[in-house]
Amino acid sequence: MSMADAGTGGIHDADAAPAGIDDREQARMTDTEIPRPGGTWTLAGTPVARIGFGVMQLAELNGRPAIPAADAIAIIRRALELGITHFDTAGFYGDGEANGRLRAALAPSADRDDIVLATKIGAVDGQPSARLVPAQKPAELRAQVESNLAELGVDRLGVVNLRRADNPPGIIATGDQIVDLDDQLAELIALRDEGKLAGIGLSNVRLDQLQQALPAGIVAVQNYYNLLNREHEDLLELCQREGIAWVPYFPLGSAFDGIAKVADHQEVQDAAAALGATPAQIALAWLLQHSGNILLITGTSNLDHLVENTAAGSIHLDEATMARLDRLTPEVSSRG
Ligand SMILES: NC(=O)c1ccc[n+]([C@@H]2O[C@H](COP(=O)([O-])OP(=O)(O)OC[C@H]3O[C@@H](n4cnc5c(N)ncnc54)[C@H](OP(=O)(O)O)[C@@H]3O)[C@@H](O)[C@H]2O)c1
Repeated sequence: MSMADAGTGGIHDADAAPAGIDDREQARMTDTEIPRPGGTWTLAGTPVARIGFGVMQLAELNGRPAIPAADAIAIIRRALELGITHFDTAGFYGDGEANGRLRAALAPSADRDDIVLATKIGAVDGQPSARLVPAQKPAELRAQVESNLAELGVDRLGVVNLRRADNPPGIIATGDQIVDLDDQLAELIALRDEGKLAGIGLSNVRLDQLQQALPAGIVAVQNYYNLLNREHEDLLELCQREGIAWVPYFPLGSAFDGIAKVADHQEVQDAAAALGATPAQIALAWLLQHSGNILLITGTSNLDHLVENTAAGSIHLDEATMARLDRLTPEVSSRG
């Protein structure tokens, strides 16, 4: 594979490859023989499985130590075996730790052109405080694209999500970190023209910001959204109309305190019991069925949970179950 030709996050295998020829053979096999869980969606020009994987849980997070590197690599490789081809990361997950682990895990798959690496820019890890610091200026965005390329060992990033810092939850920009969206998009378009990224995405944006950014050719939007939090239904609908992937973060409600856990809701547990599924699977199956442009990037540090979450792609929720789950949260729409 020529990574420059692939139009996606192709992977270098020059170094840090912890596995040998046998792994490469297996990587080639999985490329052609494994069905894509949840079906496929073409993301920045590459068909990916709608069930992807978010690597945030595989790195140090807000002072919580990371799981051992070998375990993280095993989880990413198992995801590949299960047919997952879309990985969501950020340079600020453990100050490069998540990217390094992803690179090491994917090294034996270097010649695959069906893997999309999506990353985020707009903040940096504020070591040693372990808090994110906004880095929103165009020159800072460019530097983050370069550092993600280096950490991941690729010629081109699949999707680069501009993580805005003016809408909660999370970091809010102040002072000279309040940057005009058009100026940021101009830098991202230049980086795309230079071949450093295949697709531009947005994260933590409002409806008006997404509308403003559409002429740039947005391929994905990543906001906080799940069965219990449908505040951004209007953005999802716009994405659906425009053929843009909606890639919700916190699909299960995250590992953070103070954020509702979808699997804890009684209705979700009842639906799971009725179907012989797990509550997490119901939460994910609802997302997949709710809208065809939803891609999952559920995070886990647990191999069993990974297998369980991937199997959610085979669960069908009947109309009555969907209707019951839909009633848990009213749709919030700009039309309302
Ligand atoms: N754009 C942004 O601003 C932004 C912000 C946050 C996150 N993200 C991305 O979104 C991805 C997903 O978000 P997230 O990881 O914070 O939240 P999440 O996927 O909603 O939830 C992760 C939590 O759910 C648990 N879990 C996963 N599968 C489970 C299962 N089958 N049964 C029970 N518990 C399960 C995990 O614990 P175990 O480890 O024990 O399984 C972890 O505590 C991240 O990895 C990251 O790539 C983006």
